[in-house]
Amino acid sequence: MTETPLVRLERHDSIGVIIVDNPPVNALSPGVPEGIIACLAEGNADPAIRAMVLIGAGRAFIAGADIRQFGRGRVRPPIGSRSHDLLDRSEKPVVAAIRGFALGGGLENAMGCNYRIAVRGAKVGLPEVLIGILPGGGGTQRLPRLVGPKVALEMIVSGRHVPAEEALALGIIDAVVDDDADLMAEAIAFARRVANTRPLPRISADDRKLAEAKAEPGMFDAMRKSIARRARNQKAPYNCILAVEAACTLPFAEGLKRESELFQELENAPEAQALRYAFFAEREVARVPYIAKDTSIRPVATAAVVGAGTMGGGIAMSFADSGIPVRILEASPDAMARGMQRIRDNYATSVKRGSLAAAEMEARLARIQPVDTYAAIADSDVVIEAIFEEMAPKKQVFAQLDAVMKPGALLLSNTSALDIDEIASATGRPQDVAGAHFFSPANVMKLLEVVRGAKTAPDTIASVMKLGRAIGKVSVACGNCDGFVANRSRAPFNTEMSILLEEGALPEQVDAVMVEFGYPMGPFAVGDLAGLDIGHAGRKRRAAADPNYRKQPIADRLFEMGRYGQKTGAGWYRYEKGDRTPHPDPVVAEVIRGIAAELGNAPRAFTDDEILRRLLFASVNEACKILEEGIAHRASDIDIMWLHGFGFPRYRGGLMFWADGIGPRAVYDQIAAWHQRYGARWAPARLLRELADSGTPFRDARSGGAA
Ligand code: 3HC
Repeated sequence: MTETPLVRLERHDSIGVIIVDNPPVNALSPGVPEGIIACLAEGNADPAIRAMVLIGAGRAFIAGADIRQFGRGRVRPPIGSRSHDLLDRSEKPVVAAIRGFALGGGLENAMGCNYRIAVRGAKVGLPEVLIGILPGGGGTQRLPRLVGPKVALEMIVSGRHVPAEEALALGIIDAVVDDDADLMAEAIAFARRVANTRPLPRISADDRKLAEAKAEPGMFDAMRKSIARRARNQKAPYNCILAVEAACTLPFAEGLKRESELFQELENAPEAQALRYAFFAEREVARVPYIAKDTSIRPVATAAVVGAGTMGGGIAMSFADSGIPVRILEASPDAMARGMQRIRDNYATSVKRGSLAAAEMEARLARIQPVDTYAAIADSDVVIEAIFEEMAPKKQVFAQLDAVMKPGALLLSNTSALDIDEIASATGRPQDVAGAHFFSPANVMKLLEVVRGAKTAPDTIASVMKLGRAIGKVSVACGNCDGFVANRSRAPFNTEMSILLEEGALPEQVDAVMVEFGYPMGPFAVGDLAGLDIGHAGRKRRAAADPNYRKQPIADRLFEMGRYGQKTGAGWYRYEKGDRTPHPDPVVAEVIRGIAAELGNAPRAFTDDEILRRLLFASVNEACKILEEGIAHRASDIDIMWLHGFGFPRYRGGLMFWADGIGPRAVYDQIAAWHQRYGARWAPARLLRELADSGTPFRDARSGGAA
């Protein structure tokens, strides 16, 4: 049996068709660029061929360089001999025919061609920045020449995927084909039409659009300024800007050299390593060890939510936003009216901001149907309970669901901590019951924690994972324990935040460290946003359930003073009327000083490093316990939860990947030292010690051990 070559040349009369066939997405793995080059040479040498088409087999044109090859010391071919360099120099016209995706190196090769056509549903883009690099295959030099430096800057610095229609309007592609099935024929017809065109259009030879940069030289600084906040601590977005700037100031060949230098600065930097890791961890998360590939998935065409509170409303919006009709059940008419109003207000805010069209808001609202009886939701494919966090009422809801829901319906609870098995015990079908833990605000946050009870069927978990992805979430499966994986691994961070203050640290100092680390907001500022009353109610509930629950005396004192956060103009910070800027408050400093003294803690200074490590190491240790108990499947799943549930900076990979940068040995030694100094809460996890002793990175830790 002969293997299918990665790239082949087919002849359709006088048109040579170069087909890239490297499933699943035609990445430019070793052999692919070489194959393109060989087929191109063959086409140019064959007198019977007058023009060529470059097309991808399967579902994509080319999704870019093979990301798995980065950082492995691969040899990069010299400038001038890469596939896009040679496409650009082809004697005969080449038409790129784009289906699915032309991303990164895919679009770069397409821009090396003389013409581009695409299927209407296709997307093009240069998303390299999202994996910490820049388009290093001529993309930063050709795109500004094709669409002007301003649009190119925006596309390259954001990395966004541009739909075919928009790409046509921008001039990235020359024509759109309605139906994927017609792409090959249309591309061949296009190639026939342009077979005799000379001189051929070549992006590299056309500098007209670059004049825009001369007319508006401030655009590069303006872009640097506009990304300063979100690109903090990162290099790739800035190198992208420098490369586009080079396109506008240097001749094409020099620009390619500059692009290459700027690329090399990035490829092996920690930022790129972390972002590549996050890319693959996000895909790995879909593979749940106990779910067979051929597991049948329960289709979800209609959904229901029980409870029209903030979480219930947000969950209903997630369904409506994804085109799935959803019924929302609430017993009290007042609560229902408030819940629907909150949903309307949320959508209206998006319309006001310009991120949602008014007609789209109406379409989404029309998908949300308020109902007041269980009978009205009985035929839904999935129901998510989202009432308040108490076991008895939740069990009552599940008993009702058991009585009315059609057989096979997925019965899910949005509990953030309660025992899924006990909830399931209220039904006669625990195999259909699972946790579906959304994060607030549920219509915005991407994480969906999918919790398996002892009796949950694997196909229930598989179906919920799929459902999560269908509504735009990143689904992560885990086991059942108090707080599950995300909140349980985060809890020691919160405890340590409180203890640092009890030792005399100030909220603004802790927040500054975490913002500098890369969080969009400091944890105390987030507390003010969420409301100190919410935190207080949660602690009260947990203290009632757990006699060992640790008190947070400072947070409690602020709550008693009526400082609920932004909504009362004072919390961890004080706020001016109508302004969300947090200002350090001497009143809070005084409360902290007082309580620290009551606890016998003498005033002392804290280094930024101590603050960062106290918060994050506490969570790393807990994450090790979670893995050890088999509650999380792999360390990278925990990382994905931190990225999508808690705003952990993506360019640091995630909690465990970040800890690898310090190393299990150093983390263990520090935790062991704190165990001596502070006592039981710092007892090192068994798995942590094993990783330290064996020199196994955190990221290789799996459920139950370090394998
Ligand atoms: N390299 C290696 N593997 C890739 C890949 C790539 N560029 N793109 C996708 N894959 C793999 C995925 O890991 C996944 O593998 P798995 O099945 O083993 O988990 C498989 O292909 C399918 O991918 P998805 O599950 O992501 O499929 P989707 O349909 O959801 O998404 C996609 C398709 C939009 C193409 C998405 O995979 C994607 O965004 N890929 C990365 C695109 C990218 O960043 N391109 C630029 C690369 S860098 C570059 O080109 C440098 C150049 O400038 C020099």
